[in-house]
Amino acid sequence: MERTLAVVKPDGVRRGLIGEIIRRFEKAGLKIVALKMLKPTEELAANNYPDTDEWFKKVGERSSKTFASIGMDIKKKFGTDDPILIGKTIKGWLVRFLSSGNVVAMVLEGNRAADNVRRLVGETDPLMAQAGTIRGDLSIDNVVLGNSSNRPMVNVVHASGNAEEAKQEIKTWFNDSEILEYNRANEDEFYRAW
Ligand code: CDP
Ligand code: MG
Repeated sequence: MERTLAVVKPDGVRRGLIGEIIRRFEKAGLKIVALKMLKPTEELAANNYPDTDEWFKKVGERSSKTFASIGMDIKKKFGTDDPILIGKTIKGWLVRFLSSGNVVAMVLEGNRAADNVRRLVGETDPLMAQAGTIRGDLSIDNVVLGNSSNRPMVNVVHASGNAEEAKQEIKTWFNDSEILEYNRANEDEFYRAW
């Protein structure tokens, strides 16, 4: 079965949402196969997000689009409209934020775990996240407010973007020996044929 990584971010932990977030994953059928609370070092936080121009560009371009869609000039905020430089600035904020407090990291296992967890987590920007998703139900920040205040938007949970990213991220957060195998009593029910 596929595995993916989810991390309750410092805002989620401080707000007492650990149980609420885990409940949603577990209830949907995802099996928790690793779980720990820790205060990430800056190094760990940095390793959670790729250091590639591709990632910086993706994050920067998305931000530019959002700012443009509400008629705001991203250049005024970031001092540049180069998506790579914008992405790098955002990564700096993210590292500071993620290492600012305790987080709860977990590995979740199940059919199409990465896509299913993203579905439950919802859109990156809470303002765009549908009600019913974790970010849609549990946060009211948005990218413009966050970035205008020189910080990342706070959206309570991190989740790997896809199965490929998940492989790398799980290695970043967990040793093999911390990932456990067991059967859940109702496990077969999620995939049963009759
Ligand atoms: O977290 P997710 O995979 O949905 O989004 P991402 O594009 O990989 O960005 C990682 C994190 O950066 C987001 O969850 C936000 O906290 C933050 N971010 C931000 O604060 N401002 C942006 N313009 C883009 C991302
Ligand atoms: Mg991501």
